[in-house]
Amino acid sequence: MFIKIKSKAFNNAIPTEVSPILGIKVPQINILGSIVRIVPLTGDSTLTAQDEPISNTIHLNMNTRQVAPKYRFLRQQGLRPSRHLPDALIIGVKKSGTRALLEFIRLHPGVRAAGCEVHFFDRHYNKGLAWYRQHMPPTIEGQITMEKTPSYFITREAPRRVFQMNPSTKLLVVVRDPVTRAISDYTQAKSKKHDMKRFEELAFTNGSAGGVVDTNWGPVKIGVYSKYLEHWLELFPMSQLLFISGERLVADPAMEIARVQDFLGLKRVVDEKYFYFNSTKGFPCLLKSEERSSPHCLGKTKGRNHPHIDESAIDRLRKFYRPFNQKFYHLTGINFEWP
Ligand code: A3P
Repeated sequence: MFIKIKSKAFNNAIPTEVSPILGIKVPQINILGSIVRIVPLTGDSTLTAQDEPISNTIHLNMNTRQVAPKYRFLRQQGLRPSRHLPDALIIGVKKSGTRALLEFIRLHPGVRAAGCEVHFFDRHYNKGLAWYRQHMPPTIEGQITMEKTPSYFITREAPRRVFQMNPSTKLLVVVRDPVTRAISDYTQAKSKKHDMKRFEELAFTNGSAGGVVDTNWGPVKIGVYSKYLEHWLELFPMSQLLFISGERLVADPAMEIARVQDFLGLKRVVDEKYFYFNSTKGFPCLLKSEERSSPHCLGKTKGRNHPHIDESAIDRLRKFYRPFNQKFYHLTGINFEWP
């Protein structure tokens, strides 16, 4: 904010008074017979108390690195928005319902989230934390900052990097039956590259379900959740992770979001009244959100029709994942009941 006072008279000695609220000297002027204390409303949030001189100069241009005592006062009241590094991250897993989770939890007034995937801990780490913070939305005191980038879950360096940013970061992981997740991943890739080989040709080394599962193929590899989870558990205690069932997020979003609100220490505000089931889309949709006041579903890229995959290929993949799923249930203490 910018308070403009044109008169040169203000450059001269101006009477001051120690403010009982702010505990510092503030200039006073007489406007239409009333004594008015001039207190800047905004300022540079990076200033420390040491930077702030007690001065009887009127610092009217708030773009300068000058004192902003009122700002500090307002900030203490939680009234001035500023950007913070995330308190909680949705770290994965790709194609499990990460967008739905983010859109649902950000309905809560206590949550603000970066709209796009920032990819800081995988692609842009060398840009530094100040760059990352700039990509966060402004929040006021008491609001939680969130971000989701699903590739963090499988990025080897991500656990250490997140830990170094803040070892108390809360981590949310949406997971879904790894077989349908792989098919969803393939469907997305195929939507961008129409001449892609059939799923069965890519998922098995000899191109059919009779062959060996190709664990080097991304859509298959990502579904071995236990392997990636172990990397996170090297640094983070289980109590800092919350696992959300992608299947339940579709079947009963209010219940999953209640768990998320509890985990984040938020009052349960987002409940069944926020959702309706759109039978055409086959998914829960929102009655309203921050951006739109009318009912709407997630975009066209969420909830796509999947191509037909041979039963034998599905069976073979189920067998492949079973021991990894069991290990994942064991690590998380949750039986996701994937077939
Ligand atoms: P499909 O498009 O294969 O059905 P992500 O956001 O992590 O990329 O996950 C996309 C998946 O979210 C979708 O995969 C869909 O199954 C799932 N999803 C969960 N809740 C949804 C919702 N309310 N609307 C649309 N898709 C949802």
